Amino acid sequence: IQWYPGHMAKAKRKILEELKLVDIAIELLDARIPISSRNPDVDEIVGNKKRIVVLNKSDIADPQLNNEWKEYFEKKGITPIMANAAKGTGLRDILKESKRLMKEDLDRLRSKGLKHKTIRALVIGIPNVGKSTLINKLANRSIAQTGDRPGVTKSKQWIKVNEDFELLDTPGILWPKFDDETVGLNLAFTGAIKDEILDIEDLARKFILKAITDFPDKLYKRYNVELESDSDVECIMNKIGRKRGCILSGDEVDINRTASLILDDFRSGRIGQITLEKPEDIL
Ligand code: GTP
Repeated sequence: IQWYPGHMAKAKRKILEELKLVDIAIELLDARIPISSRNPDVDEIVGNKKRIVVLNKSDIADPQLNNEWKEYFEKKGITPIMANAAKGTGLRDILKESKRLMKEDLDRLRSKGLKHKTIRALVIGIPNVGKSTLINKLANRSIAQTGDRPGVTKSKQWIKVNEDFELLDTPGILWPKFDDETVGLNLAFTGAIKDEILDIEDLARKFILKAITDFPDKLYKRYNVELESDSDVECIMNKIGRKRGCILSGDEVDINRTASLILDDFRSGRIGQITLEKPEDIL
């Protein structure tokens, strides 16, 4: 999805409508980029609604930095839930936290005789953070949800997760912010921006540049490339391509395939548990 002002206004209207239907917003962030994956207007959008912040994909983020990010959010008065939606880790914590946040409201409603009041929630987040995966896990089903198609009106469906908890079956999509170069790169590295609109060779080069400064050991271990102190990005790309058999006729390295391979490896955690942002970067 490419975001233009018109798109953003439409997405915002849609999510505001959806939020009216629920008690709680479950805000999904990517644990590898907790700041870049946060929509800058989310506080304004969610307003006074109760909110749970989930750091998803924590399984492929750096464990030490997961702790640092947890502390960072706690200092701001938010208790983030570390999750791996793909495996279902953290789901119970989300339900528990919803119940805790809603306790007073539920007690009040029930004291008025409304016994069957349930908690209604909406999963929100930027593309690719794992919203559908989380919804499917909570619903205990494996059907992938497809987004709304233009011209097809779809009625809202509620998924009953348990006695107390219901979830809207389609997520609220927030737009990512990519006017800042670092944020844009982080979003592109992690796959939040579609590759079709990116120059993946250039992106992979930038990724390698970041890797050789921030996590060289992981990069070298994954590709088993010997690096001399003067190895430059192009040289590393070529070595990786050759090692991995990305070769064109004429024995030339297929840089495009190599770039895809490197980005795929990072996105799926095969280069290791890597977090691209540190709380101290914010300062
Ligand atoms: P959009 O439909 O683009 O808005 O994406 P989404 O937010 O619904 O994300 P989706 O659930 O489609 O997940 C994106 C990718 O991330 C999929 O390949 C998932 O399998 C993967 N994924 C989701 N959650 C996790 C997680 O906690 N850990 C890991 N390792 N992968 C995850």
